[in-house]
Amino acid sequence: MARSALMNVMVTAATKAGRSLTRDFNELENLQVSLKGPGDFVSQADLKAEKTLRDALNKARPGYSFLMEEGGEIDSGSDYRWIIDPLDGTTNFLHSNPFFAVSLALEHNGQLVAGVIYNPASEELFTAEKGRGAFLNDRRLRVAARTALDECVIASGIPALNRRKHGIALFEQRNLMSRVAGIRATGSAALNLAYVAAGRFDGYWESDLHPWDIAAGLLMVREAGGFVSEPDPKASMYDTGRVLAGNESIHGQMREILNRPLPEALQAQKA
Ligand code: IPD
Ligand code: CA
Ligand code: CA
Repeated sequence: MARSALMNVMVTAATKAGRSLTRDFNELENLQVSLKGPGDFVSQADLKAEKTLRDALNKARPGYSFLMEEGGEIDSGSDYRWIIDPLDGTTNFLHSNPFFAVSLALEHNGQLVAGVIYNPASEELFTAEKGRGAFLNDRRLRVAARTALDECVIASGIPALNRRKHGIALFEQRNLMSRVAGIRATGSAALNLAYVAAGRFDGYWESDLHPWDIAAGLLMVREAGGFVSEPDPKASMYDTGRVLAGNESIHGQMREILNRPLPEALQAQKA
């Protein structure tokens, strides 16, 4: 598969950041057993990977704006903006679980035009360009075709201690768990979306996400023929941080379940 010049730039940057993460990941085992633990080391690994991405992208495409998880927003007035999560799946990384990824997307006038999600541990490179399809390494991706919800494996995120809305997450899981073949919480939003694009998960939903968690993955699912949106058709994903993905049928069926009215006691958590 011949890659566009833009995709070459993005893949080069993401794989370079991935190599930096791999080196640090391999060091981590020694730190797991130390009393201090690997926390600070992982923060440094994260920052290093973000700097690698930023330097590589700035060099190849000078002047573009940035939205980065660690470095925040740099608005250079350009029509183009990189959206970067240097390490999605930090908790997995911290615990030496090799399920994490570099996530990198490009917007042009607010529209997603390209995305790369790279898991350096498995060397799986997911790429998508608007109108040109989604790929895993050189293989074209399609979302899974299943339409019977009870045969579907669905990914999600379980909000951890520093998150809010635990009650709402449990309410949604309770409504879905009795309808599907399985629910998986993997710890990487970017890879969950890439896996939906690859047909490895039939669907995915999660709340409290940020643009850098999902930007590349949104384009990937759409370019693989899938649907992604806020479960509430009137709301926008970037505003609420809620995401629902799947093929058209599964997306529709899950949306109906996720839009069930919240019990009175949970209404306050919504705000
Ligand atoms: C997190 C992961 C995780 C999701 C969290 C995100 P991070 O990103 O995507 O799957 O459940 O909401 O914050 O912190 O590892 O970059
Ligand atoms: Ca993230
Ligand atoms: Ca991150």
